[in-house]
Amino acid sequence: MSATGDPQAFFTARARSYARFIRLFRYQQGLRAYLARSSLLRSGIRVLDAGCGTGAVLLGLREAMAARGLTPGVLHGFDLTPAMLDFLRESLRAGAVAGVELAQANVLSLDALPATWRDYDLVVSASMLEYVPRERFPAALSGLRGLLATDGTLLLFITRDNWLMRPLIGRWWRSNLYTAAQLRQAFAAAGFSDVRFRRFPPRYWYLAPWGHIIEARR
Ligand SMILES: C[S@@+](CC[C@H](N)C(=O)[O-])C[C@H]1O[C@@H](n2cnc3c(N)ncnc32)[C@H](O)[C@@H]1O
Repeated sequence: MSATGDPQAFFTARARSYARFIRLFRYQQGLRAYLARSSLLRSGIRVLDAGCGTGAVLLGLREAMAARGLTPGVLHGFDLTPAMLDFLRESLRAGAVAGVELAQANVLSLDALPATWRDYDLVVSASMLEYVPRERFPAALSGLRGLLATDGTLLLFITRDNWLMRPLIGRWWRSNLYTAAQLRQAFAAAGFSDVRFRRFPPRYWYLAPWGHIIEARR
């Protein structure tokens, strides 16, 4: 099983159905619940959502911070697919959300990001690195590591390789899937030394079979 060879075309055709799919599973709420108790959030932090898509993490993170009375310093997001970014821009407009900057970029060509998009306290990425060719996965992690401030953290949500996710995400959403051992190896190859696996809060127990949560310090 392997990811689609053309994620941009794939998600251009599926921006709306993807948004419907994740709504069904209360995925954004699950990410928000995880972030709501995370010690990684503080006022003034620089945050990047890598592969922001329709904004599940970016919006969930913003809501989690607001609920705790925290305000991000900057909140940036990039994605390969303009149609996904358009969907997110529409959500930001509809919700009168200000202060979020978006850019189109490929995680494998981060030089294309604006020059000031650096030194993040937190780079968060969900369900995106599955679409990078397997052999480029450590390079993609290493590129994101390069965007972190010295004491910054990469927070990754990524699909597990198991019998349930193979048909549901692997085949249906044409995604690569990863075991914990494969992730440990890739994070080490990318230069991360402090890598911790985390869990979804109990209320979102059903997201556990879907995804790994990894916090990796630069
Ligand atoms: C399954 S969606 C996830 C979107 C969002 N992060 C979420 O959790 O709902 C995958 C996203 O990754 C983006 N993507 C795939 N390959 C990418 C790449 N090489 N660089 C940046 N974004 C990419 C796609 O355009 C799509 O928006």
